[in-house]
Amino acid sequence: MEFHRNPDLDPAEREEPFEYSLRPQRLTEYIGQEKVKARLEIALKAALKRGEVLDHVLLFGPPGLGKTTLAHVLANEMGAPCKVIQAPALEKKGDLAAILTNLEENEFLFIDEIHRLPPAIEEMLYAAMEDRKLDILIGQGPSAQTLKVDLRPFTLVGATTRAGLISKPLHDRFGMVHRLEYYTRAELGIIATRSSHVLGVEMVPEGAEAIARRSRGTPRIVNRLLRRCRDYAEVKGQGVITTEIAEACLHLHEVDDLGLDGLDRAYLETLCVKFKGGPVGVRSLAAALGEVEGDALEDLVEPYLMQIGFLDRTPQGRRATEAAYDYLGVKPSSGPLFS
Ligand SMILES: Nc1ncnc2c1ncn2[C@@H]1O[C@H](COP(=O)(O)OP(=O)(O)OP(=O)(O)O)[C@@H](O)[C@H]1O
Ligand SMILES: [Mg+2]
Repeated sequence: MEFHRNPDLDPAEREEPFEYSLRPQRLTEYIGQEKVKARLEIALKAALKRGEVLDHVLLFGPPGLGKTTLAHVLANEMGAPCKVIQAPALEKKGDLAAILTNLEENEFLFIDEIHRLPPAIEEMLYAAMEDRKLDILIGQGPSAQTLKVDLRPFTLVGATTRAGLISKPLHDRFGMVHRLEYYTRAELGIIATRSSHVLGVEMVPEGAEAIARRSRGTPRIVNRLLRRCRDYAEVKGQGVITTEIAEACLHLHEVDDLGLDGLDRAYLETLCVKFKGGPVGVRSLAAALGEVEGDALEDLVEPYLMQIGFLDRTPQGRRATEAAYDYLGVKPSSGPLFS
């Protein structure tokens, strides 16, 4: 996949040190998601009071909304270490067994992209989560034996962008399931300001507002646009992110007033013009766009277009709304029915 929104999927960009430094460490620094925080705060306090581990937590929501950050925040609040693993990296049962049996008491295990666990490994997690037990098969054939291993108390935090792909047995073994929502502009403005302090760059409040407005409700995009604006301010200005600097920089990067970029516009044009507004399946859209996978569209493009009312997902496929045509400035060509 070669589209320029790739940074979201590119591990190299994700792991950049400043990205790490911009991560809130404690719940009080974690901006927004008030409902989720309120519930977690009570669970944390209760677990600490009882001297128990925190119940297993499943976090879901679109990329860049703070799932990984929150997992680390929870571990920090419990004063526990946190081991991180990407679900697709677990290939054999032995991989998971080794990780689980090596967890320290109270340690957090964060499994990212948990909807991508191989089925056999997912099944192994069931007993581990519920009874803190692991069944390990030793040997093969008639002489094979199952060894029951007790695990130390631990907290599993699972993250996924696809709630719909989590199986019911796995879902039901989490004591808490939290959906992260897109952030409000005000919250994104606070995140921009906080990050500017961490990066040591001066920014006027209107600069934060300009970035917040175009960040698609997503903290990761706030931080990315902020970095671009900082570069721009250093090269083209006096190092201060003024309104003019922010506007000019965002214009240069072809981020429009709604925060939509080239891939979003290409998607909308394909849907509205080529497929006459739909309904059309996401695979067909991806094929028509070329060099982009359906998964990327489902993760990175569609959730926000639905959020702003440009897109409907129906059982028959994707449909453009009237607002999408208005945005593109084109007229529906032949009869898509608007709901
Ligand atoms: N609530 C928040 N307050 C402040 N900054 C935040 C918040 N949530 C996320 N961020 C910032 O946004 C960046 C992206 O967040 P994070 O990596 O946790 O997202 P994610 O949901 O795990 O994304 P993905 O699904 O792609 O793994 C973080 O580096 C952090 O700096
Ligand atoms: Mg993450």
